[in-house]
Amino acid sequence: MPDTLRDLRSREFARLDAAGHAYLDYTGSGLYAESQLERHMELLQREVLGNPHTESPTSLPATRRVEAARADILDFFQADPSEYEVIFTANASGALKIVGESFPFGPGSRLLMTADNHNSVNGIRSFAAARGAAVEYLPLDGELRAGPLEPYLGSAAAAPGLFAFPAQSNFSGVKHPLGWIATAQAAGFRVLLDAAAFVPTSRLSLREVHPDFVCVSFYKMFGYPTGVGALIARHPALLELRRPWFAGGTVRFVSAQNQEHLLKATAEAFEDGTLNFLAIAAVPFGLELLRSLGMEAVNRHVMDLTAALLDGMVSLRHSNGAPQVRVYGPHDLRGRGATIAFNALDPEGGLVEYERVEEVAAEARVSVRGGCFCNPGAAEFAFGYTAAESYRCFHTMAPTDFTLQQFSSCMHGMPVGAVRASLGLASDESDVQRLLEVLAALRDEPPGTGARRLPPVIGG
Ligand SMILES: Cc1ncc(COP(=O)(O)O)c(C=O)c1O
Repeated sequence: MPDTLRDLRSREFARLDAAGHAYLDYTGSGLYAESQLERHMELLQREVLGNPHTESPTSLPATRRVEAARADILDFFQADPSEYEVIFTANASGALKIVGESFPFGPGSRLLMTADNHNSVNGIRSFAAARGAAVEYLPLDGELRAGPLEPYLGSAAAAPGLFAFPAQSNFSGVKHPLGWIATAQAAGFRVLLDAAAFVPTSRLSLREVHPDFVCVSFYKMFGYPTGVGALIARHPALLELRRPWFAGGTVRFVSAQNQEHLLKATAEAFEDGTLNFLAIAAVPFGLELLRSLGMEAVNRHVMDLTAALLDGMVSLRHSNGAPQVRVYGPHDLRGRGATIAFNALDPEGGLVEYERVEEVAAEARVSVRGGCFCNPGAAEFAFGYTAAESYRCFHTMAPTDFTLQQFSSCMHGMPVGAVRASLGLASDESDVQRLLEVLAALRDEPPGTGARRLPPVIGG
């Protein structure tokens, strides 16, 4: 662990060790450094900040803080202000919804997505389908990677097409190729890059790649503030969006008499109502933390720990020699980030329910996450579901009676969830060790009553 990061853990994140936490859920949320809070508190105590966007002496400084945060975000992602703008949202999902509800989908247009996507991207298909666009998914292989992309591109046809993929999977940690952005654009698609799980530990340079839309949540990058995300959008793509409504703050003119309105021509046309301006003022402190550490150093650090965690997991064995863990996605460091999805196995090769792992982890004050992490496509490929079988099982139950347990029984006991461990800038070797100890504690535990069978690994 580099000295700067070791020092950071004791200086800025002492609360972790003071309370005995091993935190391995950075893809759920980053953790804030104490100095971010101190700087924000000091700012709030010193300044009087009113609602932005009027000329009063308390409003102007608030406007300045918001505009400074916008500029800082562009600078952090090396985005040229003449090419990109920042629209503040409540989170990454809010940014995705703006694209979904405003994209000019229509008959003949296409929404193409990787099967590996967060539900906040999957949800865009509801807008697309409602307006007559075709919705298509790129399947995943045995390592949960998608592609090749080219056969799916065809052409976006006359009507506009949108290709949406995550720079890094929040399920498997797979990093999908950023080269896809230019390839899809050359085929006539606008590209939506979900960078929420990528940017906390990797550098995204919008000088090197030029997606039309990028979404992020700042609490995932540096823990604080929550409730602030952004849509970073290229001007020409933004101009094509058609907002389905207007709200306070988004308009230049509204007439009640004539029922007319004119939206603002800037990012503000997409920012409904009063921004979370006090929280937005704290964003630059988080960006400064990441700049001071250097994204390359953060990435090296988390990937060293990922290597140790992966090695430790795949070498855990029951006394009969059977593996204790099945890792979904890549088992090495090529093209992946610091997020690992896995299930624990019993000595007979059956599945240990993810809730059991969560339970043992929680007793040891180890924070991991169980479920499918709002990424059903990656889960379906990881667990080896067939579309026909999962369709049958989903439709055998009335929506009011639906439970995951019954769904799993109908699927012949296939898994309905995994465990996810993810590392971040404050992680250290002790966190890795403690998770490995949790898994080691399940060694030789006999199959539970609800033991489920695992399908063979798809694609080898
Ligand atoms: C890849 C990815 N996209 C989108 C989201 C949604 O982020 P939020 O819940 O902050 O809107 C998440 C959250 O986990 C994510 O990991």
